[in-house]
Amino acid sequence: MEPYKNPNLSIEERVEDLLSRMTLEEKVGQLNQVVATKWNIDEVRKLAREGKIGSRLLASSGLAGNEEQHTADVLEGNEVQRIAVEESRLGIPIINGRDVIHGHRTVFPIPLAQAASWDLDLVEKAASIAALEASASGVHWTFAPMIDIARDPRWGRIIEGYGEDPYLCSAMARASVKGFQGEDMSAEGRIAACAKHYVGYGAAEGGRDYNSVEITDNTLRNVYLPPFKAAVESGVATVMSAFHEIGGEPVTASYYLLTEVLKNEFQFDGFVVSDWEAIMQLLHQRLAEDSKDAALKAFQAGVDMDMKDQFYINHIADLVREGKVSEERLDDAVRRILRIKFRLGLFEHPYTDLELARKVHLHKDHLEIARRIAARSMVLLKNKNGLLPLPKKGKRIAVIGPMANEKRALMGSWTLDGRAEDVITIIEGIKRVAPEANIITSSSGLMDDMIYAARHADIIVIAVGESQIRSGEANSVADLELSPGQEELVETVHRFGKPVVVVVCAGRPLAITKIDAAADAVLYAWHPGTQGGLAVADILFGDVNPSGKLPVTFPRTAGQIPLYYNHKSTGRAIDEYFNKSHFLNYHDQTGKPLYPFGFGLSYTTFEYDHLKIEKTEVQKGEEVKVSVQVTNRGKVAGEEIVQCYVSDKVSSTTRPVRELKAFRRVHLQPGESKTVAFTLDEEALSFYGQDGKRILEPGVFTVWIGGNCLTELGVDFRVL
Ligand code: GLC
Repeated sequence: MEPYKNPNLSIEERVEDLLSRMTLEEKVGQLNQVVATKWNIDEVRKLAREGKIGSRLLASSGLAGNEEQHTADVLEGNEVQRIAVEESRLGIPIINGRDVIHGHRTVFPIPLAQAASWDLDLVEKAASIAALEASASGVHWTFAPMIDIARDPRWGRIIEGYGEDPYLCSAMARASVKGFQGEDMSAEGRIAACAKHYVGYGAAEGGRDYNSVEITDNTLRNVYLPPFKAAVESGVATVMSAFHEIGGEPVTASYYLLTEVLKNEFQFDGFVVSDWEAIMQLLHQRLAEDSKDAALKAFQAGVDMDMKDQFYINHIADLVREGKVSEERLDDAVRRILRIKFRLGLFEHPYTDLELARKVHLHKDHLEIARRIAARSMVLLKNKNGLLPLPKKGKRIAVIGPMANEKRALMGSWTLDGRAEDVITIIEGIKRVAPEANIITSSSGLMDDMIYAARHADIIVIAVGESQIRSGEANSVADLELSPGQEELVETVHRFGKPVVVVVCAGRPLAITKIDAAADAVLYAWHPGTQGGLAVADILFGDVNPSGKLPVTFPRTAGQIPLYYNHKSTGRAIDEYFNKSHFLNYHDQTGKPLYPFGFGLSYTTFEYDHLKIEKTEVQKGEEVKVSVQVTNRGKVAGEEIVQCYVSDKVSSTTRPVRELKAFRRVHLQPGESKTVAFTLDEEALSFYGQDGKRILEPGVFTVWIGGNCLTELGVDFRVL
């Protein structure tokens, strides 16, 4: 048996043995990711036989987030794999990639909603279920997690990531990578993950997708890079290079970002795949003269695999022969790709068990997790006079609005394999959770019928929101108001003088200022996935006490954007976010958010006191220990996400006014108190200076603890 086929040898030994046997053409073949659709199956078979496919991309268009995609065909996948393994000269298996962003057949809430759960265990669990279901469809590799920091809700892709905070986003990155990959990627039901879109994509100017980005290296290092560093530390198998440029350099052609920072400084040992046509787009960005020049620039920068463009398969061998690309660089790229294929166990298990899908897709346990994470991701933004939870009987409850009976939108964008028919609507969920409730629904989608239903009810639930087509890739908006008619419906019903509950199903933070004024209660349900309707009902009727907290600031209007909590302290006080402004932010609008980062209500109330710090002076590198007592002052049990923020009072590089550095979810019975302790280490107190080096400086810091970023419960300490 050739050493590379021997599973008893180390992966690195197997990689080196296989590499030593490969011809130049076979090496270049591994760099080639081919879009595999039903239209080009013959071409794919031929390339597989010739050893010219490293990966199949299971997508039938460049906008897989919202355009219908072919189902991942297991039979076809096994057939092509058999050709690659049994008919090509070296039998190197193909790795199949697909966008499994927040679920496969069981669709979980969009990632931004999952971030609102602040529940790392559940996020990991959801990713592991998505991996299991996807692997049953022949998927070996997902292009997730998307961990782009986003501070602009106009940008449609804000839904795919975990919000505005580097610490929370990094924690989510670790959880999802671990969920997809597990401790051993070769285990059944595990798939390779892909940290994307490296790096700074969420800072697109104007929130316009694909637009240029202008951020400094210091901002890149302190805000946008940390989640990718966390993903690499978690062993993420691949990283995807983004479409955009930063300050004149397209990321896909950036040796500094892809090789110096990612591969050398972060020690990333997996492989980099370009985003869809990102190499070809170097032509549009007028950085490359032709496809060969584009291939050269991307490959030398550090992009190892070419998604779809076929530029590598057409030019890299010639570039090597011409001496423009070294064999060493080529071997480095091939080594990285083979390493991931060996780690995935593809050489031992190249084929998919055809029976697995029937056993795992939409399994009842998966649906239960989907329901639970959806409920924990929902954020109660308003609950005047304790209107919620609703009684399960004795009142006539109208359930109206465009989202009340909606299925497809509840899955959100980037659900290639979810099916609308599997979705539980809000009305269906309410009828199942509160079967004895007197529910009145509209006989149609007509406003007149909805208003008629409301007139005959004691309490009105109005489900509003946005379609999934308004978010995700290439779907940004200039205004954040709800689409026409929805605010008017709420305001009309509000005039009846009866209690109004508004449920918002959306992918991004919307400027629901008018809704907030007209409603007595507001529940932000996001795009909650297959079990969304049940989760909404679980909360509305109190079977679940809401605990979600916002992972992103909610502006009052798009004109305030960008508006985020971890902003810098300015020379002149304009910080209305934290009520520390001596100057008007705007004449025509407050500078305060509608809802701040970390905000979310419960059906009970939590009291914080007894904030203690072990030492008010610590040596550099010494841990800082703080604790606080949290008490449930209400009548029902609940969970509070206790948040810990730090301010660095004076530093050599300007720092945010506050930064999240730890959080803990605590469950409290009525009247129960718990002491929650946090330890702040050197990592929590340090930052990247102007020289790109991480530093911890002596000086005064403040640590703040509370239920959202505005907490005033704080204590100072000094690092000596
Ligand atoms: C898309 C997206 C990327 C996705 C890839 C494959 O254009 O930018 O997130 O993974 O192409 O569908």
